[in-house]
Amino acid sequence: MAMEMAPMGPKCGVEISGVELASCSDAEMQAIRQAIYEHGVAVFRDQAFSPEDHIAFAERWGGIDINNYFPLQDKYPQIAIVRKQPDQVTNIGGAWHTDHSYDQIPAMGSILVARELPPHGGDTLFAHMGAAYDALPDELKAEIDGLEAFHTADHVYKADGLYAQTDMAGDLRGHDLKTGAVHPVVIRHPHTGHKLLYVNGAFTINFVGQTREESLPLLQRLLAEAVREDNQCRVEWRPGTVAIWDNRTTWHNALNDYHGHYREMHRITLSGEALAA
Ligand code: SIN
Repeated sequence: MAMEMAPMGPKCGVEISGVELASCSDAEMQAIRQAIYEHGVAVFRDQAFSPEDHIAFAERWGGIDINNYFPLQDKYPQIAIVRKQPDQVTNIGGAWHTDHSYDQIPAMGSILVARELPPHGGDTLFAHMGAAYDALPDELKAEIDGLEAFHTADHVYKADGLYAQTDMAGDLRGHDLKTGAVHPVVIRHPHTGHKLLYVNGAFTINFVGQTREESLPLLQRLLAEAVREDNQCRVEWRPGTVAIWDNRTTWHNALNDYHGHYREMHRITLSGEALAA
């Protein structure tokens, strides 16, 4: 069985077939890593991938960053549970974001496994931040050259934060944590050297040296450019689907279009490396 790769969109995503993640060779692992660094997200179908396989595979990447806010699996605290009950209105991750950009060393990426799916809907959109940067007009590239931005999750998860106002409040933890990190607005991917736009709508608050209000017009312009449809791809989940993404290269957005049905995904977040312009 030879590994094959097929693009999922013009600039983002790759579907990889002909490989069993739970038992792949070091050479296959290296090819998978490189594909994810370049395409941003890779999808694997029909995987037999137990929680033990999930953890063992994640450990082959390096460290695991345990999420501070999501519920954790009782037996396997390395695994965060992303779930929505049939009677819940809000979902987790239902806005464009990249995981953990509020950390000093943000997570490299995530491995998400479909455990229980609604009968329809619940797809996840991804957008490629290298393609987003490349497509910016030159005058906008010049404007953001050398800028840094402040990221935090406090307004999202704290006791009076955004999720606290929703029916997801009781499912989350870590309300007292304080987060905050400054990162370049344009980073270079540590392995491909590709320039990437590194701000996002959920966790980026302001440009350094500017207030939130002063930052908003430029931030909103960048956010709009980044989610142009030709930068995106869509993961349609099926039983046995695993998606692995690079948080530096992509943003993602979990669609919330399956009210009345349960959805449960298992996520392991992979440790990253320091970001630089
Ligand atoms: C997330 O990691 O933001 C959740 C993605 C999803 O549930 O599809």
